[in-house]
Amino acid sequence: MFPPGFLWGAATSAYQVEGGNKNDWSRWPKGDAGKAAGHYERFKEDFDLAKSLSHNAHRFSIEWSRIEPEEGKFNESELNHYREVILALKENGLEPFVTLWHFTLPVWFVEKGGWLNRNSAVYFERYVAKVVETYRHLGVKFWITLNEPDYIYAFEAYSRGRFPPQQKSFLKTIRVLKNLIKTHKKAYKIIHQHDPNSQVGFANNVIYFEAYGGKFMNRILKFLANRYWNFWFFRKTMPCHDFIGCNYYYHNRIKFNWLHPAKSFNRNDNCDVSDIGFEIYPEGIYHVLKNLKKYNLPIYILENGIADAKDEKREKFIKDHLYWIYKAIQKGVDVRGYFYWSLIDNFEWDKGFGPRFGLVEIDYKTMERKIRPSALEYRKIIENRSV
Ligand code: BGC
Repeated sequence: MFPPGFLWGAATSAYQVEGGNKNDWSRWPKGDAGKAAGHYERFKEDFDLAKSLSHNAHRFSIEWSRIEPEEGKFNESELNHYREVILALKENGLEPFVTLWHFTLPVWFVEKGGWLNRNSAVYFERYVAKVVETYRHLGVKFWITLNEPDYIYAFEAYSRGRFPPQQKSFLKTIRVLKNLIKTHKKAYKIIHQHDPNSQVGFANNVIYFEAYGGKFMNRILKFLANRYWNFWFFRKTMPCHDFIGCNYYYHNRIKFNWLHPAKSFNRNDNCDVSDIGFEIYPEGIYHVLKNLKKYNLPIYILENGIADAKDEKREKFIKDHLYWIYKAIQKGVDVRGYFYWSLIDNFEWDKGFGPRFGLVEIDYKTMERKIRPSALEYRKIIENRSV
C-alpha cells in the first residue's frame, strides 16, 4: 500500500487549459490556444470532477500575464480569480500545488528581452512577491517556481527554436539558463520570506538514460547525459529546494555512434508508443527515483502522462508507472505524491490540440467534459492506495 497521506491528483497549466490569455504564445500564430478548454470559466466544474475521481491534490499554474498585464501594474480582478481557484480547490479537499511560471510570458516582459534580460529575475521576483503575499493566508503550502526551465524551455525556445521566440543560439541559451537559475533562487527566498513554512521547488524534466549494452563509450555518455539533463539545474540552484519535483515522460537509450555522435541518443526500441510517439517505459521512473534518493528530500511526481485519444493505453500506463513508483518507495525513496498529466485535455504547445492527455475528455465544440474510463481505474488505485 502507498503510505497514508500520499497525495494523488492531476496537473494542468494555465495557458494549456484556461483560454483567453494574451501573452507571447497567443501572439505566435502557431501557438494561439484561443478558448483552450474553457477552464478559466469552468474551473469549479473541473475541480468537482477531480474530487469525484477521489483526487486529494491538484497542480495548476498562475498566468503571469494575467496578474501583471502591464509592467508593475497588478490586476486585482485576476488576483481575485486565482483566489477563487484556490478556494475552490480547498473546498473540494484538493491540496493546491501552485506553479508560478509554466512557459508563457507577459508581452511587456518579452519586449524587454524576456529571460535574456539581465534583470529578468527581479521582474519575476516582484510578481512572485505579489502572488505569495496575496494567497499565503489561504493556506497554500506548495509552490513550484518554474516548470522545466532548462532542457525543455531554454532549449526549445533558444536552441531548437520550436517555442517562441524561436531562436537558435547557444550563447543565448546559456544566458537564459543563467537568468533562470537566478530566478529560481530569488523566488525561493522571497516565498520563504513571506511564509517560512512553505515548501518550494521547481518541476524538473527527468529522463531515464540507459546505456545500450555495457560498452565503455555508452556508459560514459549515459553518465554525462544523466548528470547534465537530470541534475545540472538542480545542483546549480542548491540549496534552494524543499522538495524535488519530477516530470517523467521519457526513456533514452544510448548507443554511441562514432560517425554521427549526435545520433547516439534515443536508440529506443519504441515497441510501445503514445499517440505522439513517446516511448512508454514505466520502469524508467524507478531508476530515476532511486537516483534522486541521495538528496534526502521529499519527491513529488509533478507530471507523468500519455497522449492517448482512444484511451486504450492510459489505464495500463498509470498502473505500471505507479507500480514502479511503489517499488521505489519500498526501496526507501521518499515519494509523497503523484500528479497525472493532465486532468483535462489541453493545448499541447507546438503540437496544438491533437494530442489528448486528459483523464477527462474535452469536446472543443461544446466544451462538454467526459470522464475517460482510465480515470475511473486511477480512482480505484487511489481508493485502495494500491495498484
Ligand atoms: C510540459 C507540459 C506538456 C507535457 C506533455 C511537459 O513537458 O510541462 O506542459 O503538456 O510535457 O508534452
